[in-house]
Amino acid sequence: MRLDKFICQVSSYSRSEAKVLLKKGSVAVNGLICKDGELKIDENQDSITINGKEICYQEYYYYLLHKPAGCITACEDPKEKTVMDFLKDAPGKNLSPVGRLDKDTEGLLLITNDGALSHNLLSPKKHIPKTYFVRCNSPFSEEDMQKLEEGVDIGDEKRTKPAKVKRISDNEMELTITEGRYHQVKRMLSAISNKVVYLKRISMGNLKLPEDIKCGEYRELTPNELIILKESL
Ligand code: URA
Repeated sequence: MRLDKFICQVSSYSRSEAKVLLKKGSVAVNGLICKDGELKIDENQDSITINGKEICYQEYYYYLLHKPAGCITACEDPKEKTVMDFLKDAPGKNLSPVGRLDKDTEGLLLITNDGALSHNLLSPKKHIPKTYFVRCNSPFSEEDMQKLEEGVDIGDEKRTKPAKVKRISDNEMELTITEGRYHQVKRMLSAISNKVVYLKRISMGNLKLPEDIKCGEYRELTPNELIILKESL
């Protein structure tokens, strides 16, 4: 297979982006920089690296991004920085985020091309718990916590489903919800006359945001983490 075709097949790079990478000398074949996209490679034998990272063919890829604030959860956008911009070097075609975090929300975001897993994790029937660390504008009471736990009116047809609340400080909590409504956490806090000033997702299903991934960094899920995630279903 041609080197430029291989790069496009296994990564999210377009043909023109692959051309630029090759020209810049970012691609190596068996340890040697190669600028010739027409070079015929043996995808089963040769070692291909982009910016030092080896890429090889695999059907499904599972990445965990520690999303920073300031980027939107979308595959592409003409103006805004997106979460996918952090995974430019990540092998895998048709990668997309599982669910959505607001622009100002940080934390655990799964990115994969495994459509079936993504669909299952987001299915309202599965009630996958998602836990958020929430810092509020002002202190909240035990009564406020009880209201959140029982479900609040956020202006939709139905009240929110029962949630779990763990107090961290007078104005900080860990809130676990099993739905994924638009701006749900912010609207829940607004329903108890408070305001979210910082929001971070710290877990999804049984999977916790690992401490080794700094804000703005990503890595592939380990085989064990993938098993843990699938056990949530
Ligand atoms: N709830 C919100 O309000 N925002 C998020 O980003 C996620 C959950």
